[in-house]
Parts: sequence; structure tokens; C-alpha cells
Amino acid sequence: MDDRPVVMSPSLLSADFSRLAEEIRAVEEAGAGYLHVDVMDGHFVPNITMGPFIVEAIKRVATIPLDVHLMIDEPARYAEAFVRAGADVLTYHVESREGSPETAEKIRALGARPGVTLRPATPLSSIRDHLPLVDMVLVMSVDPGYSGQSFMPEQLDKVRALREEMGFMGLIEMDGGVGESTIGACALAGTDIMVAGSAVFGTPDRRGDPGAAVRRLTEMAEAARRNHR
Ligand code: DX5
Ligand code: ZN
Repeated sequence: MDDRPVVMSPSLLSADFSRLAEEIRAVEEAGAGYLHVDVMDGHFVPNITMGPFIVEAIKRVATIPLDVHLMIDEPARYAEAFVRAGADVLTYHVESREGSPETAEKIRALGARPGVTLRPATPLSSIRDHLPLVDMVLVMSVDPGYSGQSFMPEQLDKVRALREEMGFMGLIEMDGGVGESTIGACALAGTDIMVAGSAVFGTPDRRGDPGAAVRRLTEMAEAARRNHR
């Protein structure tokens, strides 16, 4: 499993939206594999972020696939709008009102790759029935809603259990608090796709160098695996 490449999916939630095209270009040139887009509806989580209209604008400038994380109550209702807007991977929460395996089937029928995700407090058993239907499991290592929170290391157990106990062969993504001090552990546990928001783009008071951060985080993840062999 560790032979798979580690891929970065920078979370645009932390990007400077007044310079979005430049921010996207910087992470693409640094080798990011996906762009992570956080959709929040003010119901499933308290925060409100962006809808299909913004996803469509991102799609117009992006050259790598969009990894869209729906933190909304009705992922099935809005799946078509997000696929039309350009979502390549579309991930729903199992705890949402429409978080049933049928939502995975609907997303696939619409032509996107379905992913399922769960809050840190939700047990892995809750997604068992979804696993045969999805291409990706997103393991949340913070409570969904905001960027810039601290990584919850116990969530790494879910990555290991997905591979070793549940035999999940699809992609595993980690989201929340992934940065220089945590990415090595994520890579070693078997994570394929690393979401990073503030560690890539910085915070409003301290902007980062997104290209350099993507390169450095990728190197750190690869080094952690190399040194472990
Ligand atoms: C949180 C979002 C994350 C967030 C990650 O609800 O799902 O994608 O933007 O931000 P960092 O990497 O700063 O924790
Ligand atoms: Zn996310």
C-alpha cells in the first residue's frame, strides 16, 4: 500500500479568494494532485462557504481534478449541480440527512467519483455499507467547519483499520490539521491524499507561499515513507 504515491489536495478555503487563479496556479505548478473545495451550508456545519457557482469558476481556471467536500444536509439533492459545476470527486458526509449509500450511487450515475466521509466522533462501522460503492474515504482529523484547527492523531487508527480490517482498496484522504508536524504520520498510516489548507495558503494575517509549501509537504510525506522502509 505504501507504494502508492502521496498526493496533495490543497484546501482552497484558506486561499486568498481575491487572487484565486494565482493561488491555484501556484499549487498546480508545485505538483498538487487535486484542489480541495469545502462546501458548507450553515446547517450541517455552522459555517457557510461556497456553492456550485464558485465551483464552476474554479473549474474554469483549474487544470487538475476538483475534490469537492460537501458539508451539507442534502448532498443527493445538490449532487447534480456540483457535478455539472465540475466536481471530479464528490464526497458526502455519512451523518448528513441524505448520507445513505444511494447518494454514492447517484454521484456515480451523474459521472463523478463518489467519496464518503465521517466526523471524528463517528465510528468507521457507520460507513461499512458505503465502502463497495465509493472510490474514496475522507477521514476527518478535525471537526468539520473551519480551517486552522489542530490535528486529532487518534483518527489515524481509522486509516489503518480501513486497510487492514475492512480491506478498503480505494483512496484514503485525510483532512484537518495536516501540516509539517503531522503529514509524516498520515503518510505512514497509509493516507493517499493529503488535504492542507492553512499549511499551504497560510492564514489571513500571515499569507503563505503555496507553491513552496506543497513541495515541502510532498517531500516530507515521501521521506517519511522512504525512511520507514
Ligand atoms: C474543515 C475543512 C478542511 C479545512 C482544512 O472543515 O474540511 O478542508 O479547510 O484546513 P486546515 O488544513 O487548515 O485544517
Ligand atoms: Zn475539507
